[in-house]
Amino acid sequence: MAPMPPPSAEAVRGALLGVIDPELGDNVVDLGMVRATTIDGSRVEVEIALTTAGCPLRAQLMKDIKLRVGSVPGVDDVKVRMGEMTPDEKKGLMARARWKIRDNAPETDIPPTARVVAIASGKGGVGKSSITANLAATLAARGLTVGVLDADIGGYSIPRMLGVESEKLAASEDKKILPIEKKVGAGLLKVVSMGAMQGAEEDEAIMWRGFMLNRAVQHFLEDVRWGAGDLDYLLIDMPPGTSDVQMGLARMLPRTEMLIVTTPALAAQKVAARAADMARKGYLRVAGVIENMSAFTCEHGASYPLFGEGGGARLAEQIGAPLLGSIPIDPAVALGGDAGAPAALAASSTVAEAFAALAERIVTDAIPLVEMKDCTARLLDQVEAALGPTGA
Ligand SMILES: Nc1ncnc2c1ncn2[C@@H]1O[C@H](COP(=O)(O)OP(=O)(O)OP(=O)(O)O)[C@@H](O)[C@H]1O
Ligand SMILES: [Mg+2]
Repeated sequence: MAPMPPPSAEAVRGALLGVIDPELGDNVVDLGMVRATTIDGSRVEVEIALTTAGCPLRAQLMKDIKLRVGSVPGVDDVKVRMGEMTPDEKKGLMARARWKIRDNAPETDIPPTARVVAIASGKGGVGKSSITANLAATLAARGLTVGVLDADIGGYSIPRMLGVESEKLAASEDKKILPIEKKVGAGLLKVVSMGAMQGAEEDEAIMWRGFMLNRAVQHFLEDVRWGAGDLDYLLIDMPPGTSDVQMGLARMLPRTEMLIVTTPALAAQKVAARAADMARKGYLRVAGVIENMSAFTCEHGASYPLFGEGGGARLAEQIGAPLLGSIPIDPAVALGGDAGAPAALAASSTVAEAFAALAERIVTDAIPLVEMKDCTARLLDQVEAALGPTGA
């Protein structure tokens, strides 16, 4: 393979736009925390200024910057240097934070501590919705609060797969959309789908084209009230042929990370690679690959690779993202989807084990939970107090 050209400054900046300081609630670029980025061939050095040097969030930010910038094509090595903000830099940060609070209503109610994960593929029918529903259920069963946003406006299937299709979205007093809630073990699902809007019927073909589609997804991102603070993951089930919605998402929510679903077949791998390309054009991080419809194992233990073999691993290699899991073909997935009882929640089965392993990999490594419990210091308050009440 030809050597990769060095990354552009724009791509590095794009990746940094996805790094959120969970306590200050904005990305590190707009917060003025990025002092400098130096690109030297495939090595990138990022210098970050923190409000206070001691916060445990330091490690989190460091890891996020390494993951995000490290996934930019052409980057092999990321160095992060952290310093403490000068009083002038703190003033700038406060001005920005105040401006946001006063003049600019938050664009979205998604808490800064939530990880936003879009599940996409180049091609339809590979199991995006099945993966989204089962992964959401598995994460919730671990005790997490998981939002599920069905961005497949015209072909929604999430409400049925999660067994909430008889429920409709409600509105809060201030006319925000309240997600449908469903308890799973110690955790909670919060589901939003066009299929749960008043008046929508599943078999009614809704013809949405690019612009309208984007407006609908934007509406969901802006107007859903997710509830205070405790959303751990927001999974977004992407429609097939993702370009419009994907680019829209990149613009509206650059912190989104992508999981690319493919089947083991070579052809599927090629289209999936295009989806990964699209993600990167929008500077979204591709956090990993999930292979779906891997070999079917019959009751006698023989393995049948009905849709080929190795597509997930090849795609992962090709796009330079890890293969996070393989979900076997199992009629239980389809049956569970129709019955609204995700197969991943079955007491013991190969499919349930595969989803448990996938969830574990995501939570601990690929898209780790944002840990705030060690960081109780309210930085904004501290900075404000240090600068005095007028600050600016
Ligand atoms: N691992 C699996 N084993 C068996 N059946 C599966 C598996 N994954 C998905 N299916 C079935 O394949 C069909 C397509 O799956 P699904 O709707 O999740 O795909 P999709 O990528 O979301 O499709 P679309 O592009 O139309 O949104 C469904 O009938 C589903 O039940
Ligand atoms: Mg789907």
